[in-house]
Amino acid sequence: MSTVQQQLKLEQTAQGWDRSAEGYLAFMEKTGFTRLYAQDILDETLPVSSQNNTPKDVKILDIAAGTGAMSIIAAQRVKALGVGGSVLATDFSPLMVECIEKEIKSHNLDNIKAQVMDGQNLTLADSSIDFAYIIFGIMFFPDQQRGLSELLRVLKPGGVTGIATWSPKNPMAEWVINTLKKLVPQPTTPTPATPTTPPTPTGITLSLSDPVSIETVLKSSGFVDIKVEGKEHCFESTVDMYVDCNLDNPVLVGIKNSLPQDKQPLFADTLRQVAKELHPNGIIKINSLAYLTTARKPQL
Ligand SMILES: C[S@@+](CC[C@H](N)C(=O)[O-])C[C@H]1O[C@@H](n2cnc3c(N)ncnc32)[C@H](O)[C@@H]1O
Repeated sequence: MSTVQQQLKLEQTAQGWDRSAEGYLAFMEKTGFTRLYAQDILDETLPVSSQNNTPKDVKILDIAAGTGAMSIIAAQRVKALGVGGSVLATDFSPLMVECIEKEIKSHNLDNIKAQVMDGQNLTLADSSIDFAYIIFGIMFFPDQQRGLSELLRVLKPGGVTGIATWSPKNPMAEWVINTLKKLVPQPTTPTPATPTTPPTPTGITLSLSDPVSIETVLKSSGFVDIKVEGKEHCFESTVDMYVDCNLDNPVLVGIKNSLPQDKQPLFADTLRQVAKELHPNGIIKINSLAYLTTARKPQL
């Protein structure tokens, strides 16, 4: 495994994500960000018109819920459907869970709870959930297979899942690659001690980033009726805000820590400089393509 992959794995801890909770919430509030994709998945799996098919007292689980992008909309949807039921928003980062609790209060919702929980070890009964979502979370699990087995275990037979993952088309990935090229210039004549290419942010960030691999993994985990759809949304942000809210993200921290020690303090400023060279007016329109997957646990 390359140094960058080792560092990325090392940073995938609750404390690592705790550090990014505040920035993540701020970006979410300014741009809507992942809420737009959560809305798409909810419209597909639990449309407003589904009163008659939705179980009474419906149980919804949001895994790796972050600051509650999916959970809040899902709780509002349950109210709109009038079927009764509740949402459990879970994340392994206590500070993300605190952000969700603030969101629950500010939206004045009484049908949702937030709980600290690792997606690879759900402390929930077998076959207890009607709808379970993992929006932009599964790619960070060190053991994705285990996460999917847990997801399948807690769903009721016939229960529905919705999963969102990013495609590789993402401006931050390009900025990071250019930053690494600046900080680790490549020798013209490579030697065994000096790699021919700088480290690139692959692996965790790009896992499950194409329809074939998503379908294959879900099928081998035991899901059926798998449907994968690409969906693009556009956000506008200042470059500074987009950089600031990503700097504490465990993915960028892992990439920074994979650099030689003397280069690590230069990472943030170089990233900002690279981004501003590409967007001199300081504004970025981010077109982000995601894959939205829906599937079912087989009926008994
Ligand atoms: C990019 S955020 C996405 C949050 C939210 N679902 C959204 O779409 O806005 C990834 C989230 O996954 C959570 N996470 C990562 N690994 C986890 C794990 N093993 N168990 C539970 N949550 C995890 C992080 O704490 C973080 O909140």
